[in-house]
Amino acid sequence: MLMKISFVVNGKATEVECEAADTLAEVLRNQLNLNGTKVSCEVQVCGACTVLIDGLPVSACTMLAYEVRGKNLLTVEGLENPDGTLHPIQQAFIDEFAFQCGFCTPGMIMAAKALLDENPRPTRDEIIHHMDGNICRCTGYVPIVNAIERAANVIGKEQRK
Ligand code: FES
Ligand code: FES
Repeated sequence: MLMKISFVVNGKATEVECEAADTLAEVLRNQLNLNGTKVSCEVQVCGACTVLIDGLPVSACTMLAYEVRGKNLLTVEGLENPDGTLHPIQQAFIDEFAFQCGFCTPGMIMAAKALLDENPRPTRDEIIHHMDGNICRCTGYVPIVNAIERAANVIGKEQRK
């Protein structure tokens, strides 16, 4: 049976019809064309599907879509600045060569966003600890940690202007 649910995604009020068993990842990708959210393990292990709900990182592969009724979602598509420039975390991933195939990257970036919103000046160990739910098979992780450190510095400088 289809149910109608509404929520805000990337600042836009949105209404969809979905089955009770539809996951949030399915609705984002298949109904809203927000394909930046990747699906890999589908069992909440790899972090590829990470999105923010009311500012907190969640796995969209296991969250059911109806659970986000009335909530505020942010996906990687919503990170870009209004003028079309990239968010500092996105830019830092490019500057530090923090991806190869890129499949893990949207989830990494969203997890990093949650970290820097909560803790704008994390230590390297805090970054590593926070990111341990996000798996990358390509990079060896060092460039990812470097990118998050770089983004924290850039955001810090912008905030001090
Ligand atoms: S696809 Fe959701 S955690 Fe792996
Ligand atoms: S860049 Fe390929 S999985 Fe991370």
